[in-house]
Amino acid sequence: MPQKQSSNAFTFAGTSLSVNRMGYGAMQLAGREGNKLVWGPPRDVDAAIAVLREVIASGVNHIDTSDFYGPHITNQIIRKALAPYPKSLVIVTKVGARRGDDGSWIPDTSREGLTSAIHDNLRNLGLDALDIVNLRLTFDIYKPSDGSIEEPLSVLAELQQKGLIRHIGLSNATPRQVDDARRIVPIVCVQNQYNLAHREDDAFVDALNQDGIAYVPFFPLGGFSPLQSEALSQAASRLKATPMQLALAWLLHRSPNVLVIPGTSSVEHLRENLKAAALQIPTEVLAELNAITSKEPTAPSSGH
Ligand SMILES: NC(=O)c1ccc[n+]([C@@H]2O[C@H](COP(=O)([O-])OP(=O)(O)OC[C@H]3O[C@@H](n4cnc5c(N)ncnc54)[C@H](OP(=O)(O)O)[C@@H]3O)[C@@H](O)[C@H]2O)c1
Repeated sequence: MPQKQSSNAFTFAGTSLSVNRMGYGAMQLAGREGNKLVWGPPRDVDAAIAVLREVIASGVNHIDTSDFYGPHITNQIIRKALAPYPKSLVIVTKVGARRGDDGSWIPDTSREGLTSAIHDNLRNLGLDALDIVNLRLTFDIYKPSDGSIEEPLSVLAELQQKGLIRHIGLSNATPRQVDDARRIVPIVCVQNQYNLAHREDDAFVDALNQDGIAYVPFFPLGGFSPLQSEALSQAASRLKATPMQLALAWLLHRSPNVLVIPGTSSVEHLRENLKAAALQIPTEVLAELNAITSKEPTAPSSGH
């Protein structure tokens, strides 16, 4: 059954973890080296630390990360900026891939790969246990695709039994995979690509809401190619908001189980994005925004 949630907070079903629905995604804190995205240290580590400290100072208590951002570097910066962590902070990480020297994302859901990824996350974040770990599925790297997840999920379930993981989620998952997974372990969240212009998961969002499972869209602002839409810009200007604020507010209006994790490397953008939590969207504007997906498809972007 859907849980009764306040408009700004969400409690993961079956857990004692509550977060504000406006969170933060840390992927943009890593650097870039030529074509290698999310690779190496940021140009300005102090600026990255400032963003993270502003995240916490602003009341955000949900940070999404992975040890394959950098690799390792993003988690190390999170630790440097925020440890000892506030009690209310929920850090969500993901495993299921590793990075090649050429910057590639190499799927790895082997027992050894998952186990070492969990230990990498624990070590680099400086934690004894990870709050939530998403198993990032890669049957098709770019979109959810069916395939058996029993083996890798059983490995995470064992690590959960050992106390290294508190709760488990899935990323890049199909509805069938979530059903299959729930027969093995409780699933508290699903992290798939979804935004104003990318709405393949519409029915899935609603089905998960019925079961009290959080839906956490990645690329909420369009990812590496931020959303560009005339309709969005016009509606935003009428509401005296920015397009990015309206795109985030639309997600928060979409369903009470949607938690947003916009990524930014800039304190200014962070402050702008956080204001979206207070933005009300009149019904007629919602209707205009809902029509964007079919009219103005945006370019696909990559990343995990
Ligand atoms: N599970 C997965 O496979 C997967 C895949 C991708 C991402 N993720 C997670 O999802 C999180 C969010 O995704 P994302 O960061 O890739 O994409 P995003 O949040 O959709 O967009 C980030 C991009 O938007 C820009 N931006 C942010 N705020 C802005 C603003 N107010 N005005 C103008 N530009 C703005 C950022 O640039 P600036 O830095 O200049 O602000 C950055 O280029 C990631 O941090 C990561 O934790 C998960």
